[in-house]
Amino acid sequence: MATCGRLRLLDQCARISPFVVVQRFLNGGPSFKASEVEYRFTAHPKPKPANPDKCKFGKHFTDHMLAVEWDSKNGWGTPTIKPIENISLHPATSVFHYATELFEGMKAYRTEDNRIAMFRPMENMKRMERTARRACLPEFDKEELLKCIGELVRVDQEWVPYSNKASLYLRPTMIGTEPSLGVNMSKSALLYCILCPVGPYFETGSFNPVSLMADPRYLRAAKGGSGAFKLGSNYGPTIRIQEEAARRGCQQVLWLHGEDHQITEVGTMNVFIYWINEDGDHELATMPLDKGIVLPGVTRMSIMDLAESWGEFKITERVLTMADLTKGLKEKRVLEMFGAGTACVICPIEHILYMDQDLFIPTMENGPEVAGRLYRELTDIQFGRVPHDWSHTVVEEAGNIDVIQM
Ligand SMILES: Cc1ncc(COP(=O)(O)O)c(C=O)c1O
Repeated sequence: MATCGRLRLLDQCARISPFVVVQRFLNGGPSFKASEVEYRFTAHPKPKPANPDKCKFGKHFTDHMLAVEWDSKNGWGTPTIKPIENISLHPATSVFHYATELFEGMKAYRTEDNRIAMFRPMENMKRMERTARRACLPEFDKEELLKCIGELVRVDQEWVPYSNKASLYLRPTMIGTEPSLGVNMSKSALLYCILCPVGPYFETGSFNPVSLMADPRYLRAAKGGSGAFKLGSNYGPTIRIQEEAARRGCQQVLWLHGEDHQITEVGTMNVFIYWINEDGDHELATMPLDKGIVLPGVTRMSIMDLAESWGEFKITERVLTMADLTKGLKEKRVLEMFGAGTACVICPIEHILYMDQDLFIPTMENGPEVAGRLYRELTDIQFGRVPHDWSHTVVEEAGNIDVIQM
């Protein structure tokens, strides 16, 4: 019997090709499950910010974090929700030397109908999975990770601001934790999520238009590179350019690409131009994704879906250059220009400093009609003022503290 069993096992092994074994290794093995989350609660809850509308981005953290470890031998460990704590790692750890790190940025809102809801979170999970693949970090089950993050938000639900301007920012992150200096795939990883209450991007609650520095000497992403993925290594090198923009009186960088100065992104946002195009049509245009140099934003996608549903003008993914923009401005065809991302939703653009010219963009003079309408429609969905299937409920009856039972 025993010999028979061993033979069956050998037979099974022979049928698993080396390709399958490597594939399983890269896939991270069977995913962790939300039903297995272990909870450890803080004995010392922190006071919450007195006025969430004044919370600066990324400065205040909630009481708990989610953490799951992975290693190539054992696969994923047990997801744990525990008091937020420092991470202790060997100085040779992969993330410190080769920036094996990825992250996501998403939000949970306290809705007017007394729920706590996230906005299209599965889109963030899909992008995180694509980024994990690009970073050679382990894959996971997106549904299960989303459920685990939902559990963390449920545990720290009192940190979701009681405000229709502020929200809870969610930062899922994954790092390579192998203590080795080889430039190789990390054989261990840590996936975690931390949460911060954040005030409105615009303190006044209304639009504040920004000025941009567009300097073709600097590049955020290149074809064949990693700009379409949310890797920390894409962001670190932009900080000095952002500082230069600030020194030159601009709030953000307009990232150009190529000899023809293609308009790609604004800071950490996708960029849209609403104008009357060369053929005389009203058009909302943004950089296409096929070149792999812009991040496929969830807000970008939502804006295109909403504008498409209005059916009032063309929505186009096309390359626009600074020459197209300056010509359009001269001919008074440019109506609005704005950035779009989770942090601010929509950010109107008013000035661009380009090759020592100060280009005035008449976004605010034109309402901004399209940017303003998009902002209202998106925030109405996010704060539950309008029911929509993009709103993903995490807590049904928010504010009812009895629901926190484990
Ligand atoms: C480079 C870059 N582009 C665009 C975006 C906007 O993406 P999303 O709308 O998913 O926040 C972000 C923000 O995450 C970003 O970092």
